[in-house]
Amino acid sequence: MSLAQVTVVGGGMITHDQILPTLYQMQRQGAIGEIAVCALKGRFLKDLSEAEMMRRAFPGQSFRAYPDLGGDLDQPHPDLFREVLAQMPPRNVVVVAVPDQLHFDTIMAALQADQHVCTVKPLVLTAREGEIIEEEALKRGLVVGIEYHKRFDDRSLLARRRYREGLFGEFRLGTAALLEKWYYRHSNFQNWCTAENSDAFAYIGCHYVDLVHFITGLLPTSVSVYGILDKYPNGKEGYLWTDARVIWNNGAALNVQNALGFPDDAPGTNTQGITMYCAGQEKGAWLRHDDQYRGISYCYTERPGGAGTTLYTEPSTDYFQYIDVGGPGLTPVGYGFRSVEYIVKACLRAEAETTTLTAKEALAKRQAMVKEYDAAGIMATPANSRFNELVMEAGRLSILNGGRQTLIEYGPPGKVTLR
Ligand SMILES: NC(=O)c1ccc[n+]([C@@H]2O[C@H](COP(=O)([O-])OP(=O)(O)OC[C@H]3O[C@@H](n4cnc5c(N)ncnc54)[C@H](O)[C@@H]3O)[C@@H](O)[C@H]2O)c1
Repeated sequence: MSLAQVTVVGGGMITHDQILPTLYQMQRQGAIGEIAVCALKGRFLKDLSEAEMMRRAFPGQSFRAYPDLGGDLDQPHPDLFREVLAQMPPRNVVVVAVPDQLHFDTIMAALQADQHVCTVKPLVLTAREGEIIEEEALKRGLVVGIEYHKRFDDRSLLARRRYREGLFGEFRLGTAALLEKWYYRHSNFQNWCTAENSDAFAYIGCHYVDLVHFITGLLPTSVSVYGILDKYPNGKEGYLWTDARVIWNNGAALNVQNALGFPDDAPGTNTQGITMYCAGQEKGAWLRHDDQYRGISYCYTERPGGAGTTLYTEPSTDYFQYIDVGGPGLTPVGYGFRSVEYIVKACLRAEAETTTLTAKEALAKRQAMVKEYDAAGIMATPANSRFNELVMEAGRLSILNGGRQTLIEYGPPGKVTLR
């Protein structure tokens, strides 16, 4: 059996920082075959192919670029991904890493081309779009995994197990923050993470909402997001500071603060963490994750290369780092790697375990696997993490209406209303 082809749609920051190095490592290990990357412009792909860290880490490895790098690098190709996906042999893997508002179109194009999908978060911006994706994927027996990488941080998995063993009692109040550095405003973000498309809560706050569900199994029932409009360097406006309150179906409340505003001179690539206050029978319980400072402090003699680096820093070896374990090149480690690897392997398994079956049997088995992943709840899927789209949708309604509380009312299956 030939190795699976993987096509990444989107060649920006997340592809550079996490997705492509993970795929190169899987290719090096013999788990996947050819890798292609399709972006809006050749310019993104040229930068990606020349990225110094990846060249050092993966000598001799490369991706097929769409558009190819021989033409006008600044010519946009907004629909090229459709052709690229349509030309892939069926039931390989597509990784979706385009701006949030393009996820639905790109995922649907991948499913209609009969491809398994790993998508960056958020799956889509409305619950209805999530339902359409779920139906299309199940009909075709295709896996769709949503990359919420905090789920693959061992501390999240430990908290989940301990919470579900009853050691924390019940979640009552929580506070979480994730602020990216100020310099993010200068990136390609300013072209799409603007007030009409997204906001700091939709972009980064969703991680902690997902994590509270992942740990506790609770569902959100109301969302209010207060946002402050700020200007990007290109003059476009975005809600670059947000304060959200999410109420859960046991009455618990989570406050989430997000921004593109953490000082560039501060240590670490961002600041982030969560505290959950819980109640047992006769005792309080408490869970605190400092998700940025992981106990490492370095002060260098000079700034290492790379965006946003500082002389004094607090690196995390937990999310994503390259280490030298005896070459060739460098090895990526961390939950960023494990998360993408887990989802891509879930897609590969759907093929590996069905090769000897008839088409009808294979479809039935793949559909059963999709249901199995939904039920296990470790990998976020359209069916088991719809609450994330509901929070997205409710959050957008709220922020565009001055922080109004938006209720999520769960009716019978498939019947949820926002009010
Ligand atoms: N922590 C996380 O989970 C995390 C972190 C960063 C980004 N993301 C998500 O990843 C996605 C991309 O973010 P990013 O930071 O890489 O953004 P980016 O702006 O750096 O890159 C976006 C990429 O999409 C490509 N693109 C845009 N339109 C396209 C089209 N029509 N066809 C093909 N390619 C197209 C662009 O060429 C660019 O390469 C977003 O949905 C974001 O929310 C997730």
